[in-house]
Order: sequence, then structure tokens, then C-alpha cells
Amino acid sequence: MSWTLIDTATEGDAELELYGKDGIFMIRANGLELMNGFCHDSEDALGERAAELAPPQPRILLGGLGLGYTAAALARACPGGSIVVAEFSKAVIGWFERQVRASVLPESSANLDIRHADVARLLAPESYDLIVLDIDNGPEALVTARNDSLYALEGLRSLHRSLCAGGKVLLWSGFESAAFGARAAEAGFGVRCETFLRGRVELSHYIYVLTR
Ligand SMILES: C[S@@+](CC[C@H](N)C(=O)[O-])C[C@H]1O[C@@H](n2cnc3c(N)ncnc32)[C@H](O)[C@@H]1O
Repeated sequence: MSWTLIDTATEGDAELELYGKDGIFMIRANGLELMNGFCHDSEDALGERAAELAPPQPRILLGGLGLGYTAAALARACPGGSIVVAEFSKAVIGWFERQVRASVLPESSANLDIRHADVARLLAPESYDLIVLDIDNGPEALVTARNDSLYALEGLRSLHRSLCAGGKVLLWSGFESAAFGARAAEAGFGVRCETFLRGRVELSHYIYVLTR
């Protein structure tokens, strides 16, 4: 059975589409697959890894929501934390609440605060222990051109300022980027790139762990 288009939405320069197949969902952005519910192991791992690195009672900012797998993993692994989820598309929040939530996060999650916002707008000095980013397919704009400013030196400095001492940014990526790692180091971060192996090495995903 092929994917069925359920809904479309426009948010600034982003054309978003929700597809469904056998009770599983997929989001495309600007014609490219952004998140596929048949393959969410590394998105789960991002949430679980963030919880492992979190101090007690952490303040966490997660951008974006997508199909909610990372948010669900984080909410389960970090019940004592406060987790603000920034999602810049109101349609994506509606898709999650109406179509996706029942299968991805059926239990209540009082620690999760989903907000309609660009994650960059929620950055503020020394506000978070962890900032978890999965807004594109890595540190290159895919959904909206605006996102490139977050991966540039100024954006990285702003992320750095928004963390408490010892705080971390975790960024999901489908590829390794030496240039991004170098910019993050220039912004003052300790940089580690963790590999999430998925069968063959060319299918691997990555989690950048940037430490203030
Ligand atoms: C790759 S998906 C996230 C997948 C998610 N980790 C999951 O488990 O399903 C990226 C999401 O980030 C959102 N997004 C893109 N840019 C954003 C931004 N600047 N601020 C907040 N959300 C953003 C997109 O609309 C999309 O829902």
C-alpha cells in the first residue's frame, strides 16, 4: 500500500505535507521526506540520550515536534524535567494532537509543554540545561531558510549563551559535517559527534553533542 496524502500546510517558505499508511505517518517538507514513522529509532535515541545527559530536574528546550517520537522518548525518560517543545508549524501541532499522539504518546505527559514557536525565539541567556534540536535533517536548512542562521556562528553563539554552565545542545543529523563541528568549536562548545549505527554505515545517523 502506498502513502495517502492526509493534509497540507504552508508556514512561511515551508510547504508541509502529512501522509499516512497503515496507521503510521510521514511528514514531507518542500517535497522531501522529513520524518517517517516507520523509522524512528534514532529520533527515540536522541530523546533517550538527552535524558541520560540531563541533570536532575532539567530545563529542556526541544525543537521541533514532527511526529513526536523524540518528545515522547524524552517525556518518558525525564519525568521530573520541564520540557518545552517548540514547533513552528501550527498545522504540525494539530496533526500530532489529532492523528499521531494516540499511537506515539498515548499516556499523559504533564512535563511536556508544546508551543507554537520558532525554537530560535525561545532562546534566552542561561535558560536551559539542554537544548535538543531536530528541526531539519541536520545542520543545514531544509524546512525553512531561516534555520541556517541557527547553524551559523552567531546562532551557535546564541545557543551557547542560552545554556547554563555545563549545559548541552544535542542535534540530530543524517550526516557528519566537519564545517559545522568547527563552527561550534569556534562558538565555544566542546564538540562530540556520536554515531547511531543503523545496519550499514551509510545509513548511520548522528547526534552532535555540544557542551558549554
Ligand atoms: C525532522 S522533524 C522532527 C522529528 C521529530 N524528532 C520526531 O521525533 O518526529 C522537524 C520538525 O521541526 C519543525 N521545525 C522546523 N524548523 C523549526 C524551527 N525553526 N522551530 C521550531 N520547529 C521547527 C518542522 O516543522 C518539523 O515538525
